[in-house]
Amino acid sequence: MDTKKSLTVVHAAQELQAAVKAWRTEGASVALAPTMGALHAGHLSLTQEARRRANRVVVSIFVNPAQFAPHEDFARYPRNMESDRALLEKQAAADLIYAPGVEEIYPDGFATRVRVEGPGLGLESDFRPHFFGGVATVLTKLFLQCRADFAMFGEKDYQQLLVVRRLVKDLELGLEIAGVPTVRESDGLALSSRNAYLTEEQRKIAANLNRVLDFVGDRAKEGVPIPQAEAEGAARLLRAGFDRVDYVAIRDAATLAPLRVLSGPARVLAAVRVGSVRLIDNKPA
Ligand code: PAJ
Repeated sequence: MDTKKSLTVVHAAQELQAAVKAWRTEGASVALAPTMGALHAGHLSLTQEARRRANRVVVSIFVNPAQFAPHEDFARYPRNMESDRALLEKQAAADLIYAPGVEEIYPDGFATRVRVEGPGLGLESDFRPHFFGGVATVLTKLFLQCRADFAMFGEKDYQQLLVVRRLVKDLELGLEIAGVPTVRESDGLALSSRNAYLTEEQRKIAANLNRVLDFVGDRAKEGVPIPQAEAEGAARLLRAGFDRVDYVAIRDAATLAPLRVLSGPARVLAAVRVGSVRLIDNKPA
C-alpha cells in the first residue's frame, strides 16, 4: 500500500477489503464510483453524489480490457494516474483509490463473462457487441470485491446505467445504483475522457451533438412520427460535419424499447463519429 500521500491508492483487492472492513467496524457506509480514469468534472459529480449518500467513498480506476474490441482505443485510452490522484485529493473527492492491475481482475485462467440482455441489447450493442459483456463482467467483480452500499453511474452512459441496474437486480448483488445527471461544457458537449482526442475543428463539430438531441426530442413532441424525427436528426448530424451516425433513437426511458409514439418518459440517444473519435450522448425527450 502506498501511504506516503494522504489519499491512498491500493492495487490489491485484499487491501481494498481491509479498508472497507475497517470502515464497517466504525459503522460507516461505503459508496463506489467505478471509472476508467482520465478524470474530469463528470466523474467528480459522481464522487459528490457518493459523498452525499455514504460516509466513505472509493473511486476505482481500471481501464478494462474486456470492454474494448481489438480495433478499439484500449492502447491509446488516456492514463494519468498521478493527475487523477492529485485531482481526487484536491477535491477531497475520495477516501481511497482502488487501481487494480489486470491480473487482480482477470487472473490467469479467468473464463467467466456476464451477459445482460434486456436493456443491454440494441443501440450500443449493435456497434460494440463485446461492450456490455465486458462492463457487466468487470462491475460484477468490482462490486463483489468492494461490497459497497452504493455505486454511482453517469446518465452520460444511459444504456450502461440501465444495464447496471438490471445486473444488480438480477444477480442480487446487494447494492443500490445511483444515476447522476450528465455534466456538460458551456456549449453543451458532454464531458468525456475521449474528448481529449478531438482536434480543434472536430471539437466544434462535436458541440452539435447535444443540440441535435434536443431538436429530435422537440420534433417528436411536436407530433412528428418518431422514425421521421430520428431521420431528421441523423441528417442534421451529417450536415454538421460528423463522419458517421451509428444511431439516433428515441426510446422508452425505462426499458430502451423502441416507441411508436411519445407516451411517458422517453430518451433520445445517439452515437456518432467525427474522424476516428466515437462520441455518445443522450437527453430526455
Ligand atoms: P468512464 O467512461 O470512466 O466513466 C465512469 C463513470 O463516469 C460512468 O458512470 C460514466 O457514465 C460517468 N461519466 C462520464 N462522463 C460523465 C459526464 N459528462 N457526466 C456525468 N457522468 C459522467 O463508464 C465507464 O468508465 C466504464 O464503462 C466503467 C463503468 C468504469 C466500467 O469499466
